[in-house]
Amino acid sequence: MKLYNFADLLQLAKQRDFKAVGSFNLHCLEMLPAYFKAAEKTNSPLMIQISTGTAKYLGHKLLVDAIKSLSESMNVPTCLHLDHCSDLAAIQTAIDAGFSSVMYDGSHLSIEENIANTRRVIDMARPHNVSVEAELGAIGGSEDGKCVEMEAIAFTPVEDARRFVEETGVDMLAISIGTVHGLYTGKAHIQHQRLADITAATHTPLVLHGGTGVSDEDMRLAVSSGIEKVNVGTEMNVQWVAQCKSTFEKGKVNDSVRNFLVPANDAVTSVLVEKMQLFR
Ligand code: 13P
Repeated sequence: MKLYNFADLLQLAKQRDFKAVGSFNLHCLEMLPAYFKAAEKTNSPLMIQISTGTAKYLGHKLLVDAIKSLSESMNVPTCLHLDHCSDLAAIQTAIDAGFSSVMYDGSHLSIEENIANTRRVIDMARPHNVSVEAELGAIGGSEDGKCVEMEAIAFTPVEDARRFVEETGVDMLAISIGTVHGLYTGKAHIQHQRLADITAATHTPLVLHGGTGVSDEDMRLAVSSGIEKVNVGTEMNVQWVAQCKSTFEKGKVNDSVRNFLVPANDAVTSVLVEKMQLFR
């Protein structure tokens, strides 16, 4: 089975009564079956996103081959997406390796430079039928070792979003509306009005980053008012590590390592199933 780009996967998701697609960060290869199990249980198409750190750790070819193979054997339509990347050469590597979607993150640049680079990435991606996500505004928190301090958070201005989409024709736009990457210290304060205004101004699928820790109520509201891709990363990591800590602690060194990992993967499947159900 081919890998789907985001537009095709979203269309399929809508046919199956989902309002949005969850895009879930994969942290290690051992976790991968848990993602397919969750998609199978919920009849959801699957979007797996890979940080540049994970791509370096596992290698692009292994990721593409493993994900294609599971997609085919489990009959789960899947999109393989490169998460946050500011390096055009690294994006080209992912496209050449067979990723079906990429994110160019120029959120640290001026809007003019961000637009210019996003257009370059779109030119690189289009011939391969690869979708492109961009980001406008600065989302706080920590992601793959990179940190945006609270005082550097910049919410996405509605007019900038309109201009950005018009001048780039990007497939999906990540916006800053109050979520942060990583674990929250308090409750997320999502700016639902800003989201509604950006939706009305752009008519383009919008992306919510920092899905970990967002309440179910906020999540449902967000996918009802324009968010069509929801990124969740930290939550699966937390569940996996928590389970491993307890099973490894109790186990013996000559126990099969599988005994330690199965409960961790089961916990990840549960989280993913819960999230996927929210997007209906
Ligand atoms: P969380 O780790 O906060 O869920 O965010 C993931 C993300 O937005 C990846 O781009």
